[in-house]
Amino acid sequence: MSEVMSSEDLDLIFRKARTHSAWLDKPADDALLKQVYELARMGPTSANMCPMRIIFVRSKEAKERLKPALDKGNVDKTMKAPVTAIIGMDVHFYEKLPQLFPHADAKAWFKDLPENVLEYTALRNGSLQGAYFMLAARALGLDCGPMSGFDNAKVDAAFFAGTTIKSNFLCNLGHGDASKLHPRSPRLSFEEACKVV
Ligand SMILES: Cc1cc2nc3c(=O)[nH]c(=O)nc-3n(C[C@H](O)[C@H](O)[C@H](O)COP(=O)(O)O)c2cc1C
Repeated sequence: MSEVMSSEDLDLIFRKARTHSAWLDKPADDALLKQVYELARMGPTSANMCPMRIIFVRSKEAKERLKPALDKGNVDKTMKAPVTAIIGMDVHFYEKLPQLFPHADAKAWFKDLPENVLEYTALRNGSLQGAYFMLAARALGLDCGPMSGFDNAKVDAAFFAGTTIKSNFLCNLGHGDASKLHPRSPRLSFEEACKVV
């Protein structure tokens, strides 16, 4: 068995994968969303804290609830996407550590930390999980349209009221219409972005 992914697979998740804003009339059903999560959850997080929580916004009612929180430029693409994932993070992730890190009392390492430290710890690890989520979605044939152009407080009030979960970013999901893409923007070269010391 080969120990590296094929060039075609690397094209699928990296080289040819684009951020989509226009969507084909093709569903992204619940079973597929579950498969995406079940791959994404395997990516590493600090002390296996797994702070990411996701609400998949699919129904017309839920889309309407999301709409007032969106920046103007993100409304149309989000309302037309088959599904929009609210990638959230549980700032009190430590409550699940007895389950997730059973071989040590990891809850004790975090539970008394200041709220801002808990929040940036959840943000770091939840953002990593959000990236695993997008790679998993692409690997399973979905296209992604990530967005941070929205009012987090409004999304939290509409979807996470009464919980310790906060929104991180949104990600439209479906099958993108490649004919509507603009040319790919450049990326930094290895020499520009990296050093080996
Ligand atoms: C965290 C995050 C937030 C983003 N926010 C927005 C947004 O609010 N609106 C938007 O149109 N695009 C948004 N983008 C899309 C980026 O501009 C896009 O991913 C980037 O230019 C790369 O495009 P490409 O994947 O087609 O190469 C966001 C992307 C990420 C990862």
